[in-house]
Amino acid sequence: MKIILLGAPGAGKGTVAKLLSAFDGSVQISTGDILRAAVRERSDLGKKAKEYMDKGDLVPDSLIMKIMEERLREPDCEKGFILDGFPRTIPQAEDLKMLLEKLNVQLDLVINLDVPKEVILDRLTTRRTCSNPDCQAIYNIKSNPPTPDGKCTICGSPVIQRDDETEEAITNRLETYNEKTAPLIGFYGTEGLLRNIFSLNSKETVEEIKESLKLKV
Ligand code: AP5
Repeated sequence: MKIILLGAPGAGKGTVAKLLSAFDGSVQISTGDILRAAVRERSDLGKKAKEYMDKGDLVPDSLIMKIMEERLREPDCEKGFILDGFPRTIPQAEDLKMLLEKLNVQLDLVINLDVPKEVILDRLTTRRTCSNPDCQAIYNIKSNPPTPDGKCTICGSPVIQRDDETEEAITNRLETYNEKTAPLIGFYGTEGLLRNIFSLNSKETVEEIKESLKLKV
């Protein structure tokens, strides 16, 4: 599958992307994960990105497009990809359209995960993430907890809260989403690629996405 997952912070894009990737081997490409890895490695990209991310602001489009052009040219994308957290602005969506035309790649679908705001706020404050960069499993202390002593059930590493999970950064991320990312719903609607899914249960959402892809093929 070659799809984009849209949705507010905490809508469940990462959770759904991991389930879809396990289903057919399409690669999950999360710009958030790529940027957090760069911050950990203290690379030039990481140093530039950290101040934006910690505040909950978007990293500049030019940096993101450079990363994504390189990533989408890698051979593992030929089988399929799930874009999680990209594109995030209209200029990124326009650049992606040109890039995919250049690579002769056709998008199957753009899924918007529609989740009520109060559910999102609750999820973001209760999320935990595996600290092992090769694992990055996503937990939630209410709906999907790690072990009682705070370890990842897959690899045993400690689970942590992200640096952008302060109340101030969460508020800013949600405002940034409304201002810069929500307009992509209209953009992809006009392109005829959008499917809106009211998403409270990730497994049901995955089934709906599979069904939509079958209907389109
Ligand atoms: P990014 O990492 O993309 O963060 P985000 O979009 O804010 O999304 P999240 O990862 O917070 O949430 P999610 O939708 O993946 O939800 P999850 O599955 O974890 O970006 C971080 C930062 O990087 C940005 O702020 C920006 O600075 C920068 N950046 C990234 N991409 C960029 C771009 N393209 N351009 C510019 N800057 C960029 O789920 C959330 C929680 O809910 C978890 O605890 C999970 O267990 C729980 N949960 C999920 N689904 C369910 C369910 N069905 N029921 C119960 N609990 C659930």
